[in-house]
Amino acid sequence: MRAAKVTDNIWWVGAIDWNLRDFHGFETPQGTTYNCYLVMGDTGIALVDTTKAPFVSELLSRIESVVPLEKITHIVVNHVEPDHNGGLPEVMAAMPQARVVASPAGVKGVAEYHNGLEVEAVKAGDVIDLGGRTLTFQPMSMVHWPDSMFTYCPEERVLMPNDAFGQHVSSDERFASEYGLDAAFHELGVYYANILLPLGTAIDKAITKVVETGWELDVVAPSHGLIWRGEEIGRVIESYQRWGVGEKRDKIVIAYSTMWGSTAALASRIADAVGAAGCEVVVYDLAVSPIAHVTAELLEAKALLLGSPTLHHGMLYRVAGYLQYLAGLKPTGRLAATFGSYGWSKGAEKQMRARLEEIGFEMPFDDFTVKYRPGDDDFSSVAEWATGIAEAVKDKQ
Ligand code: FEO
Repeated sequence: MRAAKVTDNIWWVGAIDWNLRDFHGFETPQGTTYNCYLVMGDTGIALVDTTKAPFVSELLSRIESVVPLEKITHIVVNHVEPDHNGGLPEVMAAMPQARVVASPAGVKGVAEYHNGLEVEAVKAGDVIDLGGRTLTFQPMSMVHWPDSMFTYCPEERVLMPNDAFGQHVSSDERFASEYGLDAAFHELGVYYANILLPLGTAIDKAITKVVETGWELDVVAPSHGLIWRGEEIGRVIESYQRWGVGEKRDKIVIAYSTMWGSTAALASRIADAVGAAGCEVVVYDLAVSPIAHVTAELLEAKALLLGSPTLHHGMLYRVAGYLQYLAGLKPTGRLAATFGSYGWSKGAEKQMRARLEEIGFEMPFDDFTVKYRPGDDDFSSVAEWATGIAEAVKDKQ
């Protein structure tokens, strides 16, 4: 297995999960990577992060393409979620001489996950001297779990922030600039929306902390996807700053599911009207769209318009499933409204409204429903309804 040089003294030695298509419910059509890094000093070598258990042999093979396993003096556990920590016991067994460190919450997490496995705690500002290269640490609670930690190598000006700044992309390229910056930044947003959206306060604090520490950054090397270098880093950090404080634009996401086409026809007319009123708009049929991508569209949007016909007195299950997915991500600070059709009995709109309000959407608009299928008057009415929502979106700060 080939390793890749990140800087003169840091190597990427992670694993590529080409065929991962679901990351705890988040569709990952491009797979992912579990990035691990070797930091090479004159007197010590640290392995920063390990992999999901099935990928340990790939990791060990890549390490051995750079140095024998017995040369590793330290293992840094930045995060205990199983995609990084699942393979830790096997990695430790392969390099028993290595001292293993984690944040204080990480020490507890490793022990709890791995039946009492013991590792050592490092706290903010602690330094490990590898001889000519050092590592320093900053626990970053809730970026992504309570144990999350950033590791920084000042001599190489490389930050290894684990989940932060990652993307679920599998590629033979290691650097965002090689993969294509537009695609890499798109995936940065998809990942943020589906993994970090409910953690905006922690993200905002983390970015402030990175700025306050004065760490100079030539490279930001996350634990998933592509590595950021040079001027890309400012744009990455600025994106996280904006998302962390919930900055949005005049954009509306229309998501629906349909039975016989009436709700789909309403969605199309609504899109036309909000576009004509000056809002950016995207439309997704939840029956055929990856929900991770619908959610990514919501990241900078001010409103969600959700449509479903009534079936058995309620909403279609794909709409209910999407609402359950959204509930965990807590996309607050946004407007929402519901639309749909029914035969002889309503019900979907009531269920959608209740769930959207519970999630935290603001819902000052009436629900829009039509019986059987929309006629010309209904299309005029829904356009008027949608135009009112677009005006509210433009007025919303
Ligand atoms: Fe990539 Fe929170 O694990």
